[in-house]
Amino acid sequence: MLKTRITDLLGIRYPIIKGGMAWCSGAKLASAVSAAGGLGLVGGGSMDPDLFRSQIRKAATLTDKPVGVNIPLTFKQSPDLVTVAKEEKVPVVFTSAGSPKRHTAMFKDNGAKVFHVASTPEQAVKCEKAGVDGVVIEGYEAGGHNGREELTTMVLTAHAAKLVSVPLLAAGGIATGRQLLAALALGAEGVQIGSRFAMTKESAAHQKFKEFCVAAQSDATLVVLKKKIPVRMMDNPFRERIIEAEARGASGDELLEILGEGRPRQGMFEGDLTEGVLEIGQVAGMLDDLPTCAEVIKKIVAEYERARRVLPPVSE
Ligand SMILES: Cc1cc2nc3c(=O)[nH]c(=O)nc-3n(C[C@H](O)[C@H](O)[C@H](O)COP(=O)(O)O)c2cc1C
Repeated sequence: MLKTRITDLLGIRYPIIKGGMAWCSGAKLASAVSAAGGLGLVGGGSMDPDLFRSQIRKAATLTDKPVGVNIPLTFKQSPDLVTVAKEEKVPVVFTSAGSPKRHTAMFKDNGAKVFHVASTPEQAVKCEKAGVDGVVIEGYEAGGHNGREELTTMVLTAHAAKLVSVPLLAAGGIATGRQLLAALALGAEGVQIGSRFAMTKESAAHQKFKEFCVAAQSDATLVVLKKKIPVRMMDNPFRERIIEAEARGASGDELLEILGEGRPRQGMFEGDLTEGVLEIGQVAGMLDDLPTCAEVIKKIVAEYERARRVLPPVSE
């Protein structure tokens, strides 16, 4: 029923991808999504090369379905993560940040399907020119790092669909079946979901972080650090310090100094809700439970089917 070019290309049942998420997405989360009919990605962003390799191998023992990886290309350890994914012959590689030209041909020659993340329609065109099999178009609603251009998923998806012919995965603010239907109506052929899966039983994030996200209201997240690395964060005392520094005109370097090292780990993985960085998307405000990945996917697909049938009739 939910067949698109994405399901054909990736050999999966539903066009639902679980994005790579620093401090949330190891083998357990990625394999749970793949086993439930989507495609899970092991998120290399918060791993050293040895851990990344062991999580890729572990995921393969937890499901017989394909599991992919995400590699942000701008980190110190990125070149080593690329080597690991190549050596392990990972079947699907999602790269993000950096240039899609860097590794696409190499991964494709190595037998992988390759996607790159774009936050503008123009970047999506560049991805296509670089030879990717598909593009993730990630709107400003998304959790984690954001595009500087602040384009919403609604505009970005419709615009990119006019310019690009490879299949698109809409990302940013998507957690329900109605939103999947909307993404397909806008021209995407699947979705990449982050926050909803960060807030599941299998997510590696700390329980305190997950429960904080469950309690979040719709206005709990804001994008800060726009001068340097725009990132959507939950309201907490650390984010307040960043906002205060930004308000008094702190330079980009000063902001980076306040950020320091290791705060995302401290917040999301170790559960320090006061001093850690807590990354989650706008959609956390409408989520109020911590289900399993299988429950998430079942609910999204059932709601999608229902919504498709009961869309209000439109006169031609
Ligand atoms: C906690 C968290 C960490 C993330 N880390 C990464 C990452 O390491 N690499 C990446 O490409 N995207 C990362 N993302 C973005 C997701 O892969 C996905 O595109 C995004 O969450 C989609 O928007 P949503 O959160 O509204 O579902 C992260 C998102 C979250 C919530």
